[in-house]
Order: sequence, then C-alpha cells, then structure tokens
Amino acid sequence: MLEPTTTYTPAAGRYDAMTYNRCGESGLKLPAVSLGFWHNFGILTPFEHMRALVFTAFDHGITHFDLANNYGPEPGEAERNCGRLINRYFKAYRDELVVSTKAGYEMWTGPYGDHGSRKYLLASLDQSLERLGLDYVDIFYHHRPDPETPLEETMGALATAVQSGKALYVGLSNYDGPTLERATAILDELHVPFIINQNRYNIFDRTIERNGLKETAKRLGKGIITFSPLAQGLLTNRYLDGVPSDSRIALDPRFLKDSALTPERLQQIRELNDIAIARGQTLAEMSLAWLLHDGVVTSVLAGASKPQQILDNIGALKNTTFSAEELTRIDEISQR
Ligand SMILES: NC(=O)c1ccc[n+]([C@@H]2O[C@H](COP(=O)([O-])OP(=O)(O)OC[C@H]3O[C@@H](n4cnc5c(N)ncnc54)[C@H](OP(=O)(O)O)[C@@H]3O)[C@@H](O)[C@H]2O)c1
Repeated sequence: MLEPTTTYTPAAGRYDAMTYNRCGESGLKLPAVSLGFWHNFGILTPFEHMRALVFTAFDHGITHFDLANNYGPEPGEAERNCGRLINRYFKAYRDELVVSTKAGYEMWTGPYGDHGSRKYLLASLDQSLERLGLDYVDIFYHHRPDPETPLEETMGALATAVQSGKALYVGLSNYDGPTLERATAILDELHVPFIINQNRYNIFDRTIERNGLKETAKRLGKGIITFSPLAQGLLTNRYLDGVPSDSRIALDPRFLKDSALTPERLQQIRELNDIAIARGQTLAEMSLAWLLHDGVVTSVLAGASKPQQILDNIGALKNTTFSAEELTRIDEISQR
C-alpha cells in the first residue's frame, strides 16, 4: 500500500537516460518513449497506482502524457485523473510537460458529440481543458478522419484551437497518406503548427507502411508517434504462459480479447521472443526498439499497468540497431 503523498520532488537526473526526438521538422522534441493514458487511468485503477505510474515516467524523462476526451472508463475519467495528478504534483513542472489530447470519437449523445465538425471539436477541447484543469494542451489531435465533414472545416477548427491559445500544436490521428497530404496543404495555408501523426504501428500491424502514412509524413517533415507499439501487450512476454490474472485481457478486455491469442499468434510471439533473447532484450524492449530503428518514428506511445513496465520500456533505448538478418526474420515471422 502506497503512503499518501502531498508533495513530489522529481528525480534530479531525470533527463539523463532519455532520448528526445524532434517532431518532424518542428521545434518540439518528444521523449522517444511516451506514456499513454488509454488504460489504467480510469475508474478501475486506484489513484495511488496512477500516481506511481506518472512519477516513474517523469522521474525517467518521459515528459509526454497522451490523452483523449474519451479515455476512461468512464469517458473523460483519464483526463480528470490526469488533471488531479498535474494540479497536485506537477504544477511547478508544467513547462517540462507535454500534455496531448484528442477529439474524434463519440463523447456525448446527439449530433454534436462525435466525428469532425467545428462544433464538436471546439466544444470538446473546452471540456478537456476543464477536466484537465489546464489553460492549454500542448498538442490537440483530430482523433480519426471524418469522411462526412469537409476537411477544410475540421482543419479550420484545429486552427482556431491554436489561435485561441488553447493548444500549442496540432496533430492528426489515424489518417492515411493521401488524406494527410490534403490536410497538410490546408493547415499550411492557415499557418497552423501541425507537427505530428498518431497511428497504430507495431511489429504485427504494418498498415502505415501500406497506406502511405509513413512515407508521406517523412516527406512532409511531420513526426509520427506510434500507438499500441506492443500490440496492447501481445508483443511482450505477458502471454507466453497463458493469460495472467492481472493482464489487460483478464481485467479490461474492452479492446483486447482472449480471441486475439490464437495458437498461430502465440507461436509468432514465441519465435519473436527467441530473437529478442538472442539480442539480449526482452520482447517488449525489442518491439519498441524495432519501431525506432529507422529514425522515422519520433516516439513510441506505450501504455503501462505497472511502474516496472515503464522502466523496461525505456530499456529499449539501449539498443535500437538491428542486423539485416534480424529484420528479415522479424518480417518472416510476423507477416506470415
Ligand atoms: N490515437 C488512437 O486512436 C489511439 C488508439 C489506442 C491507443 N492510443 C494511445 O496509445 C497508448 C498506448 O496504447 P496501448 O496501451 O494499446 O499500448 P501498448 O504499449 O501496445 O500496450 C500497453 C500494455 O502492454 C503491457 N505492457 C506494457 N509494457 C510492458 C512490458 N514492459 N512488459 C510486459 N507488458 C507490458 C501492459 O498490459 P497489461 O495491462 O497486461 O500489463 C500495458 O497496459 C494509449 O494509452 C493511448 O494514449 C491512441
């Protein structure tokens, strides 16, 4: 049981072991490993546990916390809890932190609580700031493309978010290459500091290599932050011997069900684990290192249910170099 704490003094050497990468050609640097608040910051997790996660992260140079309006459970709770943490412990360190949030999925009922209208995005940002107890977020994302709203309207709302001082930078999430290219042209015309794409990318999921996002972001000088870099825990040693009772599949299977653990998937995980062991890494470390090895990804956005996982994930930075044979073998196993 953790003792109640009213004050927090971050570790003095917190920046020593972290790498900071520039978001594309922008001025903003992000830690190579960021912390996601999608899971473990809602009503299921004790406050003291959340506090231990963020203290561990910040003490080891993770300066970037990633949220969205709908993270929970219940929707909004992750922002509320992050707000409590920031206002209780990080007030003096706000300028050492990058706080991101998003809008684009259903947040409230009726026609104005979802997708990509100006009406929804700007109202949602105000609600997020209220829950977070902040005057501004560092990055405000459109969470997913909305084919029914003109791209000009959605990008115009992002421009207003910046002009109003409620966001410093903007990002796009789950866009593909061609839509990113169109969006960038509009945002350039509006002089909006659009700096980063947030997409799912991991050893198993290569969508952004196929839909043009990775190539386009690199060409346009935009950053990429990769979500679910551990495939929600599958690309770790978590499930090698069954489903642990404290794992995401067992405790909160809203988005990761045991049906994902097919015999074929488990075999792939075992073979990838063998490569990691031969490299002197855990599978989690190798999976994160793999994402960073070609220098295109700015930051890997990992979740964590335990402080130790955060430390393990930062350990990935000790070796992000792969031989051609290792890369080929990882492709052969993961893409079959
Ligand atoms: N833009 C979007 O549409 C979108 C979508 C999804 C997520 N995201 C963002 O991306 C973040 C990360 O997503 P994610 O949680 O799916 O990421 P992930 O890093 O792929 O999975 C995190 C889970 O993996 C396990 N884990 C983490 N480190 C481990 C380690 N060292 N050893 C063993 N197991 C480890 C933990 O699961 P256990 O609970 O089993 O311990 C943890 O909760 C989210 O929090 C959110 O900020 C964005």
